[in-house]
Amino acid sequence: MMNYFLTKLPKAELHLHIEGTLEPELMFLLAQRNHITLKYDSVEALREAYNFQNLQDFLDLYYEGAAVLIHEKDFYDLTMAYLKRVHQDGTIHVEIFFDPQTHTHRGVSMETIVRGIHRALEDGKRWLGVTYVLIPSFLRHLSEEDALKTWEELKPFLPFFGAIGLDSSEKGNPPSKFKNVFQEVRNAGLRVVAHAGEEGPAEYIWDAMNTLKIDRIDHGNRSLEDLELMAAIHKADLAMTLCPLSNLSLKVVADLVDHPLQELMDRGVRVTINSDDPAYFGGYLAQNYISLQQSLQLTKEQMIQLARNSFDASFITETHRIELH
Ligand code: HPA
Ligand code: ZN
Repeated sequence: MMNYFLTKLPKAELHLHIEGTLEPELMFLLAQRNHITLKYDSVEALREAYNFQNLQDFLDLYYEGAAVLIHEKDFYDLTMAYLKRVHQDGTIHVEIFFDPQTHTHRGVSMETIVRGIHRALEDGKRWLGVTYVLIPSFLRHLSEEDALKTWEELKPFLPFFGAIGLDSSEKGNPPSKFKNVFQEVRNAGLRVVAHAGEEGPAEYIWDAMNTLKIDRIDHGNRSLEDLELMAAIHKADLAMTLCPLSNLSLKVVADLVDHPLQELMDRGVRVTINSDDPAYFGGYLAQNYISLQQSLQLTKEQMIQLARNSFDASFITETHRIELH
């Protein structure tokens, strides 16, 4: 009963990397279409490699997999497959990250990437009624100079974007490394989000708030280690995009029963449930709701509150939000 309810419950996805929705079947199909040889000889062999000890283990495979995306149609097909999939289980609004540098560094043009993803999002809105916000993210393991160059390449497409994000290997790459580029992003009137406190320390969340002036925290698990930070998050009224099955897969939590969502919610933080990279972590948005509800024994009212939080913390416009409520 509860699972059916959670599947049908209207939800917004606020933390989703489109490259992380590349299912092994589609990876093989695109590899064949683009004459690329994969390291794995079957879908099963690839799935077996999805056994991560930490964030970097996953990122290595994730960047490798993204190499099958070459043409505009590949980006379109990837995005459309995701929209069709989540449309079946109550996801009615999506805020999608993509990593431009993962593709431009392989010689794919920004125009190919953006047009492919954007065209699918527009068709998804028209055909499936799923609304969207698109969020390019800088790779933090690369230099700020590279992010600044990428920012220049993004500029012709700014009307397509609702925010700019920061992701990839967190440890050793604090938000302040990208102070100047995010200052430019802010000056252009775009919102800012950043992954912080997933594997990295609570300090990086302070840094993302104070230096980058983020509008929302991606992950944020480790904020509980610092009570002053908790108070500051509360005061700034910042929402957090938590990703339970991702945390389990990447061993950010040992077990879902240890997931910090409940404590964060009890402390009044505006938390949301999200799927991060569902093709790699074993569950789309509804499954994240279901697994967490079961592990933490959350009530129906709490689950409804979490779904409501997802719309309240979204970057959709006021008029649109009223339509959805
Ligand atoms: N963390 C950092 N970078 C990422 C992630 C994540 O969970 N998923 C895709 N890129
Ligand atoms: Zn993420």
